[in-house]
Amino acid sequence: MAEQAGARAGVTAAGSEPAAGAAGPAAAGGGRIECESVYKWFPGGIVLEDVSLAVDSGQFVCIVGPSGCGKTTLLRMMAGLAEPDHGRVTIGGSTVTGPDPRVAVVFQHFGLFPWKSVYRNVALPLQLAKVARDELDSRVTEALRAVGLAGHERKFPAQLSGGMKQRAGLARALAAAPDVLLMDEPFAAVDAQVREVLQEDLLALRDRLRQTIVFITHSIDEAITLGDRILVMDARPGRVVRDITVPIEQPRTISQVRHHPAYAGLRDEIWGQLRQSAIDRAGDQ
Ligand SMILES: Nc1ncnc2c1ncn2[C@@H]1O[C@H](COP(=O)(O)OP(=O)(O)OP(=O)(O)O)[C@@H](O)[C@H]1O
Ligand SMILES: [Mg+2]
Repeated sequence: MAEQAGARAGVTAAGSEPAAGAAGPAAAGGGRIECESVYKWFPGGIVLEDVSLAVDSGQFVCIVGPSGCGKTTLLRMMAGLAEPDHGRVTIGGSTVTGPDPRVAVVFQHFGLFPWKSVYRNVALPLQLAKVARDELDSRVTEALRAVGLAGHERKFPAQLSGGMKQRAGLARALAAAPDVLLMDEPFAAVDAQVREVLQEDLLALRDRLRQTIVFITHSIDEAITLGDRILVMDARPGRVVRDITVPIEQPRTISQVRHHPAYAGLRDEIWGQLRQSAIDRAGDQ
């Protein structure tokens, strides 16, 4: 494991800075994700029905859809934390059968251990993978620098704002994950201004690191701002009903996105798809 982790050092997100336009870690195909006719049933009934999709290496794909449509379930399958009842999920051509060191997950609720410092939280997955001390230190330091947390290494989670906690969670994923980042509503718990700052940071990081990213959000604006593509899901049962390419060039800034001529039309298109589910939900409350 140590050898494997060490061998990956040269392609680790936090440990390398590919030049603009350079082939990043995912460019060789190792970060390609495919879901082939995936079904999932829970005791309450069918949750995912015949979900097939592919995310190319280095692509940033956002998933939007009504609550309960199976977004998290799908992401957990990509992360190897849940199994499809039918069909299969592959990453880099191999069937996902469990957690994979090439893949990191960032959840909404940070997942930081309160008794560990920022440095130790970020270092934990590398320690578990028995990464050598010097390499661990450089990867953690670089990841913390990349998310703007340099100088906060010794703080504990209780001393951090919500935005800083989320950055620490992102740093941990960056330090650990060379190829694929799976993010489940990572910015939902921070305020609107901090969220925009984090979005800008992620756009800049993405431009440097070129990982494959799957990002779940309830915000249509966030999906358009970040995604190369947006998959729109519907519920009961959960399935992908639209696959929209965002015609806004990368690299981007939030301001460029908001002023882009395609922005309003895209927003209307996605909202048109989600509106009925939102009305149904409002009626249920
Ligand atoms: N472990 C489980 N056991 C039983 N049912 C589950 C389990 N996990 C999820 N479900 C059900 O599967 C459905 C999809 O859940 P999931 O969390 O994937 O939805 P989601 O799209 O992420 O929703 P949200 O937007 O609210 O996060 C829901 O009806 C949920 O209650
Ligand atoms: Mg969810």
